[in-house]
Formats: sequence, C-alpha cells, structure tokens
Amino acid sequence: MSSLEGKVALVTGGNSGIGLATARAFHANGARVVLSGRDRETLNEISRQLGQRVLAVPTDVTKLDEIDRLMARAYETFGKLDILFVNAGIFKGASLEEVDEAAFDEMLNVNLKGAYFTVQKALPFLNEPASIIFNGSVNALTGIVDSSLYTANKGAIHALSRALAAELIGRGIRVNTITIGPTATRLLTRSGSSQALLDAQDRARINHSPLKRLGLPEEVARVALFLASDDSSFVVGSEIAADGGWLLNTI
Ligand SMILES: NC(=O)c1ccc[n+]([C@@H]2O[C@H](COP(=O)([O-])OP(=O)(O)OC[C@H]3O[C@@H](n4cnc5c(N)ncnc54)[C@H](OP(=O)(O)O)[C@@H]3O)[C@@H](O)[C@H]2O)c1
Repeated sequence: MSSLEGKVALVTGGNSGIGLATARAFHANGARVVLSGRDRETLNEISRQLGQRVLAVPTDVTKLDEIDRLMARAYETFGKLDILFVNAGIFKGASLEEVDEAAFDEMLNVNLKGAYFTVQKALPFLNEPASIIFNGSVNALTGIVDSSLYTANKGAIHALSRALAAELIGRGIRVNTITIGPTATRLLTRSGSSQALLDAQDRARINHSPLKRLGLPEEVARVALFLASDDSSFVVGSEIAADGGWLLNTI
C-alpha cells in the first residue's frame, strides 16, 4: 500500500466508528489529518492520542458557516487538502408511516446536505490530484424494511458520487464511494432504538451476512486507505463494497 506521506486528509465524523478508524489509518500511513465532528471531548481526546500532524475542528455539517470555518482552518494549518473522506452520517430506522417531517429533515440535513456542501466548500482547497471518498451503504442498492429514509439518503449519495466523479475528474479529483455493509459502530446504538430491538436487528444482519458477522470499522478503513492513496490512481467513479458479501444472493 502506498504511503500517504506528505498528504493532507480531512475526515468528517472523524471522532467515531468508521471515520475514526479511517483517520487513524490515514495518520498511521503518514498523512496529516483534519478531524471533524460535533463532540469536542472525543475530538480533543483523539487529537491527544494521535499527537503530531493532527487538527481537530468541531463542526456540525448541517451548518454551512461551520463547514466554511472547517475548510479555512484546515487550509491555514496545512496549506492544502489531498483527501476528503465524506463520512459523517446518522441512521434512524423507521417505517414509512413513522417518519415525520422533522425526522426527514434531520437525516437529510446531515447525510445529504452536509455531504454535498462539505464537498462544495472543500473544492477551492483541493489539490490536483486529490481523492474524494463518499460513505455509501448497501441500503442504497437493495431493499431493507424500516429504512426507507436512510435508503433514500444513501441512494442520493451514490448518485451524487457518480455525478461528481464525472464533473471533477477534469480537475484531477477522483471521486469514489465505499458501499458499506453492517459494521459494528455506534451508528445504530445512537438511533434511539431499545437494546432488545438493536440486538434482534444485529442477529438478523449477522444471519443475512455470508460471513456471519458484522464488519469492523478498520476493515472499511483499509478500503478508504486504498481509495485515498495513489494505488487507486485509475479508480474513478467506482463503488467498492466493504460489506462481507451482504449484496450477494447466496441462495
Ligand atoms: N455502521 C454501519 O453499519 C454503516 C453501514 C453503512 C454506511 N455507514 C455510514 O458510515 C458513516 C459513519 O458511520 P459510523 O457507522 O462510523 O457511525 P458513528 O460511529 O455513529 O459515527 C458517525 C459520525 O458522524 C458524526 N456526525 C453525526 N452527525 C453529525 C453532524 N451533524 N455534523 C458533523 N458530524 C456528525 C459523528 O460525530 P458527532 O456525533 O461528534 O457529531 C460521528 O463521528 C455514516 O455515513 C454511515 O451512514 C455505516
């Protein structure tokens, strides 16, 4: 795997789960890393752990002025951006009837509006060449009950990624998506569901998976590392699955 020595990587949602594992992997491979997320305590703790070559900027991706500040701080500190991991996201399982306007707006604001404007506002600072990696989901490519809102969000991310791959490659910016399968993070536990429901859902996910387990954030991070590095220099507009075979029809 190529080193990320000399590169600057920005990870939204870099203080938890897949974003954190990826920020650690980028950093371990020599990158200077900009971490963002809302929770200041975890951001500070992770910066302390990583030590050198790190900038943590508390940012709510639903607030465009905060994204502006994030990009400005990253540029002031490190002078450029080579890698953008568009990762911050939320999930709440609910049937079609259960989703109200507030829940719709909340999820769309983080998962789509936040992702869209993160890329738009990073653009002036992105180097040539650069790599943008979106966090997609198996939800975007299949039908899973009680997840219509999340599925619509992630479907939009996959579509956005393809459109931007075409639009930005002329500027030397490669855009790709990781199609992530069920991974052991706080995403689902933060959703507000009861522990009993979460356990039942985990059992169903594990049962469906050909590997019979959830993914680890580090397993997704290794795919992000590939897409971030020059090893993927010919990979543009792709959707690479890190899903343990979730999308296979194993019957
Ligand atoms: N885990 C899975 O099974 C799975 C499967 C497919 C796709 N994904 C995608 O992977 C991404 C990361 O999720 P994860 O599983 O690692 O979950 P996680 O551990 O809950 O991490 C989510 C991250 O997003 C950040 N975030 C949430 N709302 C934000 C906001 N308004 N502004 C800025 N940051 C915000 C969180 O930080 P703060 O709370 O500090 O803001 C946190 O760092 C998401 O896009 C998710 O949809 C996950």
